[in-house]
Amino acid sequence: MISLLRHHFSDIFHHAEKYRKKYSTRFKPYLTFTKATISNPRAVGAACPSSPFLARAMSEQIDINSDGYVIELGGGTGMITHALLAHGVAPDKLITVEFSPELAQHLREKFPNIHVLEGDAGQLDKLLKEHIGEVKNIHAIVSGLPLRSLPKPNVKAIKKQIHKLIGEKGLFIQFTYDLRLSSSQKKKFQLRKTRIVWRNIPPARVNTYISAYPRKLSEN
Ligand SMILES: C[S@@+](CC[C@H](N)C(=O)[O-])C[C@H]1O[C@@H](n2cnc3c(N)ncnc32)[C@H](O)[C@@H]1O
Repeated sequence: MISLLRHHFSDIFHHAEKYRKKYSTRFKPYLTFTKATISNPRAVGAACPSSPFLARAMSEQIDINSDGYVIELGGGTGMITHALLAHGVAPDKLITVEFSPELAQHLREKFPNIHVLEGDAGQLDKLLKEHIGEVKNIHAIVSGLPLRSLPKPNVKAIKKQIHKLIGEKGLFIQFTYDLRLSSSQKKKFQLRKTRIVWRNIPPARVNTYISAYPRKLSEN
């Protein structure tokens, strides 16, 4: 009888441990994201991570035949990072920048083969020089940054960095929860493509830009 009970309880504990492990792995990203939101709501700027549909719509803008770097800003829990790798971006060409130390650590553990830089996207050039060296060939900067909720001076610094780094050929891909077609980036960037992704909470618009300056030069 005792041995039967012992067997029964060890079975229960085994299953409880299995489920604890399964669900803590599944929910860990949400927990990390929620913690980061509570400690800095303006910097996270979203209630939950991007859906796989939004992440895919962002990554599909990338030409995987390009041998340039892809830089992701605001990697968060890695939804877009994962989609970029699944789309075919080479891990050694993928650089993710994340401000929150907890989320940066989470990204390092989840994607050990990519470059994860902890820091401010407004200092992108400096971060790249410090951790990677001279990064000249940049195919795209993919941003999950909440540009509408970050303080204006930060946004200005971030856009300046993006504009400088993508040069004449690179892409700047940004999602926004503002579904209207906006001209707010028009001083520095020219809209190339846009689409709405409804399967996200909330629905989002994916905008793909190139630098506006070559267009202005050719107009002169
Ligand atoms: C809206 S969340 C997006 C997370 C993830 N890319 C996704 O789509 O689920 C914004 C992320 O940007 C990060 N972030 C905010 N300001 C930043 C900055 N100046 N530099 C780098 N990352 C920043 C936040 O910590 C947060 O992880």
